[in-house]
Amino acid sequence: MAVRLLTWEERSELARLGPAAEDVWPEYNLHGDVFVEWWTPLLEELPDYQFALFDEDAGVVLAEAHTGPLAWNGDDRELPAGVDDALQRAVKAGRDETGVDTLCAFAAEVALAARQRGLAAQLLAGMNELARRQRLRRVIAPVRPSWKERYPLAPIERYVTWRRADGQLLDP
Ligand SMILES: CC(C)(COP(=O)(O)OP(=O)(O)OC[C@H]1O[C@@H](n2cnc3c(N)ncnc32)[C@H](O)[C@@H]1OP(=O)(O)O)[C@@H](O)C(=O)NCCC(=O)NCCS
Repeated sequence: MAVRLLTWEERSELARLGPAAEDVWPEYNLHGDVFVEWWTPLLEELPDYQFALFDEDAGVVLAEAHTGPLAWNGDDRELPAGVDDALQRAVKAGRDETGVDTLCAFAAEVALAARQRGLAAQLLAGMNELARRQRLRRVIAPVRPSWKERYPLAPIERYVTWRRADGQLLDP
């Protein structure tokens, strides 16, 4: 199977073929106040930072990654406060054409039918490849607490402190 990395800039029709958001994300992830305002601008204004892993033979998008460029000096204290802050910084950097040096990962989505066969690592490798293409020196990724939707009543501040019996954080 020939899997190719193609950006939405290179093949705009792939934007319509990727996994549907409601198949991939828990409902609450689709309603962030910052997300609602800034996600579409990221996709529309920075198509060269969105890419698909495309099965050329089958004509199927197996996985999709969303990223954006921003400026970061490498000092942990200067990192964006979180995904919302990073998302706004990337869209604004694109609009203002300010100098950028860092690729920020925003989402990695594997189609339901293509899961559990190693595409997550290929998406991350693809992000690194995109950073090299765009001459960005660093890659950062705000991570999602991926089991939070299982505990909708627990405030996030408490949820992130929960640990398993072996001392590891409960959230994978
Ligand atoms: C998370 C996701 C990208 C994994 O894709 P996948 O094709 O099933 O993963 P792969 O086969 O490449 O790798 C499986 C590995 O991912 C891990 N994994 C799968 N889902 C996970 C989750 N929700 N949280 C943490 N790790 C997860 C598995 O434990 C496995 O690790 P192992 O190899 O050490 O056992 C996919 O389930 C997905 O699209 N989820 C919805 C969107 C999402 O949460 N994206 C990531 C945050 S932006």
